[in-house]
Amino acid sequence: MIVLGIETSCDDTSLALYDDERGVLDVCTAAQIAHDRYGGVVPEIASREHVRTIAWVYDALLARTGMSAGNIDGIAVTAGPGLVGSLLVGVGFASGLARGLDRPVVGVHHIEAHILASELSGESLECPCVALVVSGGHTHLFHVPCPGEYSVLGCTRDDAAGEAFDKIAKLLGLGFPGGPALERAARGGRDDAVEFPRAMRGRGFDFSFSGLKTAVRLHVEAAERAGVLATADVAASAQRAIVDALVEKTVAAVRHAGVAHVYLAGGVAANRLLRDELGAACAEAGVMLHAPPLAFCTDNGAMVARAGWYRLRAGADDRDALDVFARRPLGEAA
Ligand code: KG4
Ligand code: ZN
Repeated sequence: MIVLGIETSCDDTSLALYDDERGVLDVCTAAQIAHDRYGGVVPEIASREHVRTIAWVYDALLARTGMSAGNIDGIAVTAGPGLVGSLLVGVGFASGLARGLDRPVVGVHHIEAHILASELSGESLECPCVALVVSGGHTHLFHVPCPGEYSVLGCTRDDAAGEAFDKIAKLLGLGFPGGPALERAARGGRDDAVEFPRAMRGRGFDFSFSGLKTAVRLHVEAAERAGVLATADVAASAQRAIVDALVEKTVAAVRHAGVAHVYLAGGVAANRLLRDELGAACAEAGVMLHAPPLAFCTDNGAMVARAGWYRLRAGADDRDALDVFARRPLGEAA
């Protein structure tokens, strides 16, 4: 079965073809650079960019894979959570295509797609497990007792982990998206140079990153006034503070849930320090860490195709009921 996956929940127009026998055939992504000068995603610009690019991303995907529209057996599209205007472009395109080709189409939860990105390397989710989803909009710890069932153990009380990376990178003048920029800037910096706060330590499974952002801002302002700002040291220390919080809470959640498998997902899962530190902590706790290949950590159509494939395989078709949603916790009914 060949599934077309469509992802437009934020600022990436990403389409992929996924074959349940051969795996991911290819992914085509148009990343929007129009937001750079605003230091964050501007929703209306994002929607317009999706409209401008989605058809040619689709054409490029077919050309690169040597496939024709007739080869597509089903369509999976992100229905939410995300920017409603952006989601509507993907869902509108998917609906039109489904009618034109007379193929089924299903809506996919973006966070579930991130978790299932690990399956793109060929192995099914090992349940029960704990999943840490860390992206620009979400920081969640889930207990997954069996495939398709999710219960929230903890989440962020304020900023998401990716948002913290983005905002701190902006404070340091490192550009957008901030995650990869901060990671690069941290290379060569001392991660114990500045003692930044680790909020909510030892208290449940919730996270908080807004205090860290404020602490970095105050440090940067004072260091600039004194003419002693050491960008690499600040970047390394801030990155360490974020990673420490994520690792500590995930290990606590693993112990609490008594599982043997951990899944790391979302754009921040591309962070090398997080992958290494969580890997080491899991090994010490005697549990196995699974993380998607780097290319499938940030938003992509392949993870959407894989997540939708489960329902398409079971004969689902949302053709007359496809809708988008800005928010809805994973595991909660529509
Ligand atoms: O999952 P994603 O592509 O989009 C959302 O669903 O939000 O995640 C994007 C987030 C951004 O905040 C970006 O800065 C962060 O993931 N990110 C990283 C890295 N690569 C992307 N954060 C830290 N280190 C990275 N290497
Ligand atoms: Zn995402």
